[in-house]
Amino acid sequence: RPPNLTFKLVLLGDGRVGKTSLVLRYVNNVFSEKQEATVQAFYLKKHLVIEGVPVTLSIWDTAGQERFHALGPIYYRDADAALLVYDITDNDTFLRVRKWVKELQQMASKDIVMAIAANKSDLVRSKKYDIQEAESYAATIGSKIFVTSAKSGTGVDEVFIDITTHNRYV
Ligand code: GTP
Repeated sequence: RPPNLTFKLVLLGDGRVGKTSLVLRYVNNVFSEKQEATVQAFYLKKHLVIEGVPVTLSIWDTAGQERFHALGPIYYRDADAALLVYDITDNDTFLRVRKWVKELQQMASKDIVMAIAANKSDLVRSKKYDIQEAESYAATIGSKIFVTSAKSGTGVDEVFIDITTHNRYV
């Protein structure tokens, strides 16, 4: 019987970009328009099977509000992967992603896997979003952009599964 691998994933990003919503969509398949701001952080577990191997994903959702920024290291310190989330309709939230990446590059594990979720894609009409700049930035850090919507569910399974699969080969 193959070992039950455990991976620790941390979500980081600005306030209100949809980190909690992505986790709740992925784990419980629910969405709330009135999702409240996270205080400090919260934890959820998800069991999945990747290529026949049982994997436990332990997910840490962090608070995005600036006043909680200093708590970051507690959660990313021993993380295998980080999912950096921004709001596709708000460029400032992408700057916060860059800031987190810099911090992770300096402070986190050297082989931490990073993926970027361009969330709230349901708010952009007829897929007219522009993620070119984000994509070229992601390439420079060896990462990928996933267009997601916690509201509609678009891209949500994909990003969590990709980041977990990627981890298996690190
Ligand atoms: P903090 O806890 O402050 O860091 O916020 P967060 O990043 O966890 O965001 P949260 O999941 O609390 O969502 C903030 C608001 O955005 C809520 O009102 C959600 O309903 C809404 N929201 C989250 N994801 C989406 C999405 O994909 N589409 C739309 N339209 N709204 C979303």
